[in-house]
Amino acid sequence: MPAELACIEERCRARFAITEILYNCPQCGGLLEAVYGKPAQSADELKALWRARRTSNAPLDQSGVWRYREFIPFLDDFSRVVTLREGCTPLLPGRRAAEYGGLDALVFKHQGFNPTGSFKDNGMTCGASQAVQLGATRVACVSTGNTSASMAAYASAAGLQPVIFIPYGNISFGKLAQALEYGAKTIQVEANFDQILALVRQLADRLGIYLLNSINPFRIEGQKTIMAEMLDQRDWSVPDWVVLPGGNLGNISAFGKGLRELKELGLIDRLPRLAVVQAAGAAPFYDLMHAADRSRLNAIEHPETLATAIKIGDPVSWPKALRELDASDGVVEKVTEQEIADAKAVIGRCGIGCEPASAATLAGIRKLTSAGVMRHDSDVVAVLTGNVLKDPGYIHQYHTGVLLGPTGERITPTYGNPPVVLPNDSDRIADFLAS
Ligand code: F0G
Repeated sequence: MPAELACIEERCRARFAITEILYNCPQCGGLLEAVYGKPAQSADELKALWRARRTSNAPLDQSGVWRYREFIPFLDDFSRVVTLREGCTPLLPGRRAAEYGGLDALVFKHQGFNPTGSFKDNGMTCGASQAVQLGATRVACVSTGNTSASMAAYASAAGLQPVIFIPYGNISFGKLAQALEYGAKTIQVEANFDQILALVRQLADRLGIYLLNSINPFRIEGQKTIMAEMLDQRDWSVPDWVVLPGGNLGNISAFGKGLRELKELGLIDRLPRLAVVQAAGAAPFYDLMHAADRSRLNAIEHPETLATAIKIGDPVSWPKALRELDASDGVVEKVTEQEIADAKAVIGRCGIGCEPASAATLAGIRKLTSAGVMRHDSDVVAVLTGNVLKDPGYIHQYHTGVLLGPTGERITPTYGNPPVVLPNDSDRIADFLAS
């Protein structure tokens, strides 16, 4: 069976050519996903092939996404792949973070080591390559910052024109700066993420622009490889839990799909449980999972969190995310601004660091272990989605004790580490260091 697009709705499952430009099922409006036949290789052959490629100097093999190309076979011509050598991100143990989270051990899969500093690069290399394959010249996305930084880079690298839409005043400067530097036409709209997404979907059709939001099924394919790489790095030993932050819910959809497919292909024999963590002021998926009726998500009209990456009230991928949580016996947790800020500082003290949204993972783990949902001796991988330098303003404000939450509440710098100002005087500096 060649690669196809399929509607995810059980009652529909309509199929379309992989080269059709579709974001929703034209028959029922459901979300679409890429589906494939079985690869030619056995599970053991795939493991050996993927491991051997790590010593290769070929660009496709050096990419931590395209190294796993038999797992994402939607292109028939790899010569047009646009890669910035994404993926290849490390597994880093964090002793202090484990202790803080109530675990014996904790390992972070740090997607902030990607070329533009977030997990979006894993998906964008696929989305941008498909855009080239389809003959697009202009690509667009709406973003809380990381998608736009990533899209701007990959589109420019591919010779496409990137157009990005961002909520005015609601993304960090680090991310906005990246979009400008990578040459995107940058439109700041006076509306929130959810409102702008609706606007951009209309504009994409009207102006013939290819959309690279996470509703784009090829981005999800790329993000699947984060799980393949994590398991490859662990010699295919399956953890008990994979924990990640949730915003638009594309990443959880990708991880769930990837893990199910790896099991179907015989590369693993069981699924880890997935835990999604949302910011308390932007937690519509948490509400859905705790509601009696899970047939529709109640959007939050005014989502609020300082973790702007996950400030999303109407996540488009929720039906996919729900399916993956059910398949993996997963859970959803929510955490406060104070919990995110403190967890982030603890991750920093491990010498690791991350952006605010990523720290929701550790804050969530701490709650899940204290509630007895996650055992202290569980084997846990937490995915840090973005680099520490994405949002330096937040860090400086936390450590100097001036960080205010979305409703003006003061965030306590529990692990604050403010810089000091001293005169140019060696005695005074020596005194300070001795104190
Ligand atoms: N962490 C970071 C650092 C993010 O940038 C995002 C999403 C998420 C977590 C949540 O992932 O949406 O797949 O559930 N950022 C998007 C953006 C929305 O526009 O950059 P998700």
